[in-house]
Amino acid sequence: MATPRIAVIGGDGIGPEVIEQAIRVVDRALQKEGAALEWNRLPWGSAYYKETGRIVPEDGWDTLRQHDAILMGAVGRPDVPDTVTVHGLLLPLRRRFDLYVNLRPAYLFDGVQSPLRDKAPGSIDMLVYRENTEGEYAPLGGRLYMGTPNEIATQTSVFTRRGCQRIMRAAFVAARARRKKVTSITKSNAQQHTLGLWDEVFMETAREFPDVEAKPLLVDAAAMDFVRKPESFDVVVASNLFGDILTDLSAIVTGSVGLAASANINPERAYPSMFEPVHGSAPDIAGQGIANPLAATLSAKLMLDHLGFDQAAAALQKAVGKVLKEGQTRTPDLGGRSSTLQMATAVAAAL
Ligand code: NAD
Ligand code: IPM
Ligand code: MN
Repeated sequence: MATPRIAVIGGDGIGPEVIEQAIRVVDRALQKEGAALEWNRLPWGSAYYKETGRIVPEDGWDTLRQHDAILMGAVGRPDVPDTVTVHGLLLPLRRRFDLYVNLRPAYLFDGVQSPLRDKAPGSIDMLVYRENTEGEYAPLGGRLYMGTPNEIATQTSVFTRRGCQRIMRAAFVAARARRKKVTSITKSNAQQHTLGLWDEVFMETAREFPDVEAKPLLVDAAAMDFVRKPESFDVVVASNLFGDILTDLSAIVTGSVGLAASANINPERAYPSMFEPVHGSAPDIAGQGIANPLAATLSAKLMLDHLGFDQAAAALQKAVGKVLKEGQTRTPDLGGRSSTLQMATAVAAAL
């Protein structure tokens, strides 16, 4: 296999801090099987925007397309509006490259303390399939009569039959290889049009997978059950906004957002897929060298899976599990005092 080329966008805040450590750990995992990746670091982010007036250069999207995958930290800085960072880079990237599967696993590792009482290692083990290209995040709408008492704002959700079908099918396929249960998050009792379509497509898709249990659940009840009985979830399929919110919740019940990985995948491989932690740029701890690099590392592990480096991916997962179980090295989000560098070094050593 030719050496895959990875575009690296560290971005803002803790983004570059955790990504550099993830790269170091991945290099180590690959080295053990005589493989390698070519990392192409792109300086895009808020600092680049301050310098050039753009967050992505004019030919940036073409540049990204020439890679086999994208590894990203996070974007967002208090002194730069989200319209620049989130709407100039992150969300367009997910849409332009049709990365419609946002896979977000949540697993309670041995040695990690859940804020929930009496949860055994591995008892929480879910995969959230978040729709990533439409839904509530569609950039459709506007403001009128701005600044006047008559001001109005609209933001229209977009749910398409095709969009629902493809994320749901991906979820059912994943469930087949697991505990064979898919929970669909809905709120069709209030939003009868968009989520009425969502529910219908879910029941239709379920019929294609008679061996998999299919359960609709209202999002408010789901928020409760993610806390009350998170072990009842196997695969979860949710719209863009619901998937976003619920995956911060699934992250914290499994210990920390500092462990939560995500993959933004175009299953047809028409475009490079993008891998990034669930967390953001964490301005409150940026520059202190204390961010947990494992969410980024486990995201890079999902990238290794996607690129077919199965052995290195499994070794990486195992090494992370070992370090967490031993509990000698822990960043502050996990209750310890170790640094970003020490955490990554421990995983590299375990490899
Ligand atoms: P955040 O995820 O950045 O931080 C939330 C909390 O979690 C903070 O207390 C932070 O210190 C902590 N945290 C996050 N990652 C951590 C890690 N690896 N180790 C230890 N602690 C960690 O969310 P926020 O504060 O709401 O957002 C900050 C900025 O990031 C905003 O501009 C937001 O738009 C952006 N954001 C970007 C992405 C992305 O690029 N994918 C994702 C989420 C938020
Ligand atoms: C995430 C983030 C983004 C999202 C923000 C920054 C728009 O919270 O990746 O979870 O909501 O998708
Ligand atoms: Mn989020």
